[in-house]
Amino acid sequence: MKGVVLAGGFGTRFHPVTRVVNKHLLDVFDEPMVYYPIRSLAAAGITDIVLVTITESMEQFHSLLGNGSELGVSIEYAHQEGAGGIAEALLQAAPIVGSDDVMVVLGDNIFQDSLLGYAESFQEQGKGAKILLKQVSLDDALRFGVAEVRDGKIIGIEEKPASPKSDLIVTGCYLYDDRVFDLIGTLKPSARGELEVTDLNNLYVEEGTMSYEVLRGWWTDAGTPASKLKASILVALEKGVTFHR
Ligand code: G1P
Repeated sequence: MKGVVLAGGFGTRFHPVTRVVNKHLLDVFDEPMVYYPIRSLAAAGITDIVLVTITESMEQFHSLLGNGSELGVSIEYAHQEGAGGIAEALLQAAPIVGSDDVMVVLGDNIFQDSLLGYAESFQEQGKGAKILLKQVSLDDALRFGVAEVRDGKIIGIEEKPASPKSDLIVTGCYLYDDRVFDLIGTLKPSARGELEVTDLNNLYVEEGTMSYEVLRGWWTDAGTPASKLKASILVALEKGVTFHR
């Protein structure tokens, strides 16, 4: 299985700093944001990683990460032109991933849990896809993909719904079988002109081959100034930092 880290987009929520530095290179506590998804993949035993980013940011990632050896992984790079959505970004990794299965982690997602057990259970599953869910408060769920679960099965996912059908949101870790790139090829752009990862996931849901697990540890994205601050605090607490007044 290969790993894919998606680190594209223009980071507009972080302007003006993201006019000169890619969002995923900003700090989360004491390290660049992108280190966390790379470490999550490495801890899951996945060391062949494709990093997808926009052409304008490629040089910055190269200077920070090089071939990945400092983090104990091997990184190859793929370009995304502009911001065409998560599924479109993933498609750019296709020539490097080939016919392997993939574990995709969004570059702004920080997981406390080790992802090893989830990678192993997906390998036992063999076919289809797996997503990792997290229970959040209903008013926070609006920001995410929200899964509707019935009798232990996902029956649908809605992207940023106005009234969420559950408090289980879809985190940015996705495991797919080798059909994923063909399936992305069948997607149509959404109203905002993007190939949506939620539409991709719903293809597996409709096929009945989407499994899920609910994360036990804390999880956060770091894609807004507030959630990035939260991520920094959670990481600092994890590292035993105490805050003095
Ligand atoms: C993306 C996905 C969403 C998911 C979230 C996790 O949203 O579209 O389904 O819940 O990542 O971080 P974005 O952060 O791009 O708004």
